[in-house]
Amino acid sequence: MAAGTIPRGSEVLTGKTIVVTGSASGIGKETARLCTKYGATVLGVDVTKSFDHVEEFYRADLSDAATIDALVEVLPDGIDGLANIAGIAPTHPAEMVLKVNLFGLKRLTLGLIPKMADGASIVNLASLAGLRWAKSVDAIRASEHVDMDAPGAFMERFGITNERGRSYDFSKEALIAWTMQNRWTWRDRGIRMNAVSPGPVETPILPEFMETLGPRMDDVTRIMDRNGTPEDIAPVIAFLLSDQSAWIRGTNIPTDGGMSSNHLCATHGLTD
Ligand code: NAI
Repeated sequence: MAAGTIPRGSEVLTGKTIVVTGSASGIGKETARLCTKYGATVLGVDVTKSFDHVEEFYRADLSDAATIDALVEVLPDGIDGLANIAGIAPTHPAEMVLKVNLFGLKRLTLGLIPKMADGASIVNLASLAGLRWAKSVDAIRASEHVDMDAPGAFMERFGITNERGRSYDFSKEALIAWTMQNRWTWRDRGIRMNAVSPGPVETPILPEFMETLGPRMDDVTRIMDRNGTPEDIAPVIAFLLSDQSAWIRGTNIPTDGGMSSNHLCATHGLTD
């Protein structure tokens, strides 16, 4: 697109190469579809093989440090966007939850920084579950020094198990904090990072949340008019990947039908 030309909605990602993790299912799959529709060349990454809506597909287990390093090697230079969407629920072992949702995500992102184009945008899929990140600052600080191959001692020290979905909550709390901490890390190259925090979204992972979070999920579904869909979330991710959002940095955008506002108002005594 010629410099100075204002892109139409359907062209906002034209000329951009965007890596989407979790591209085989749910929010990642819809993000890959939408980014392709908006003109991007999408490179999909997932542990499950799927060539839907991607120009190229890279099969990789993002819980494994050596696999992530090998993936970084084979991905091309000139990446304009990275959507870190792959994630798992606490139906999986707690260590695995932290590896995929947090440690692996950070390793892939930091590994790809040298391969990113100036002005690149990184979008992290966090969650409403990470809203209370401020209560976990000590654990978040300690997590910065954890070897992803051996997180056991750290998890024991901070009581991070699957009980009441704590492993999942912590992974998303730390991800929101990391996003904010990196608001200006790569500012000299114009590389920015933001997060999107959905409430419950109709994807294959949702029944797993129902199973593991029990009464908490019942509360959520009781007060919501409906669950979200991948189509509610992907446009927000695409916007953050586009140059239209260039001055949005280090932000977490709740995309949750009003759930986080409801929680914050109730917490601070702002009743309707
Ligand atoms: P999903 O289960 O449909 O998609 C997750 C994708 O991640 C799958 O394609 C899966 O194969 C991939 N994946 C899982 N483990 C992987 C690994 N080790 N290596 C590479 N890929 C792996 O789930 P959904 O809902 O699309 O989830 C996307 C993100 O959104 C996750 O990070 C999730 O935590 C987050 N989220 C989802 C919510 C929901 O209610 N669905 C609510 C809030 C956040």
